[in-house]
Amino acid sequence: MNIVIKKQELINEIITKDIFNLIIKKDNCVLGLATGTTPLGVYKRICDTFKDKVSFKNVKTFNLDEYYGLDKSDINSYHHFMYENLFSKIDIDLNNTYFPNDIACNNYSLYDELIKSNGGIDYQILGIGRNGHIGFNEPGTSFLSLTHISELQDSTINDNARFFSSKDDVPSKAITMGLKSIMNAKKIVIIAFGKNKALAINRLINGQVDEKMPASILKYHKNVTLFLDEDAAKKLK
Ligand code: GLP
Repeated sequence: MNIVIKKQELINEIITKDIFNLIIKKDNCVLGLATGTTPLGVYKRICDTFKDKVSFKNVKTFNLDEYYGLDKSDINSYHHFMYENLFSKIDIDLNNTYFPNDIACNNYSLYDELIKSNGGIDYQILGIGRNGHIGFNEPGTSFLSLTHISELQDSTINDNARFFSSKDDVPSKAITMGLKSIMNAKKIVIIAFGKNKALAINRLINGQVDEKMPASILKYHKNVTLFLDEDAAKKLK
């Protein structure tokens, strides 16, 4: 795993450039996208700078996860998040943007088939939860998991409650790409900003590869870069 420690703005710039270069090489590339606060800077930079550089007309996107039971139009849905922070501000065709809950709900692993039939994810963006989750793959999720329904842990519900009017409004379940689904991406970038992530990053770097630390599976992938700001890298020294 490559590790890059830089200021947030610089990391956002590097990832944006990476994505633009990929689109220049392959205009119908497939991006794997994450939600949460962490990738917001990358999305903003893409929106502010894509014109005159690239077009997203032929790009396809697959989001990592979505809350279970929330309507697409709900302001807390990840559909809404992506529309507000990225899709409405670039020239992407919304028919090329996919979410795991768009799939027939009796077999979510069809999402993995859909990704595969579109050529697989070329570039996957990930954040990380304080408990080491990626997507909504909570500690204990099988490394062999494909897209599935996950039960959210209390710490994840607490962390995400900041977006809802109260903790009770946070859905207790989500549909998420599995760990095996994520590992199928050709290139992965995982981003962690802030001191709240320092402990998880320390466990990720210095700990074992273990299902108790979902992100640790990334150590088995051959093309992963972990981007950290100084605060997230604090406990590594
Ligand atoms: C949520 C998302 C994850 C994200 C994590 C961290 O649980 N499902 O994909 O990585 O939160 O979010 P943040 O970037 O806001 O810290």
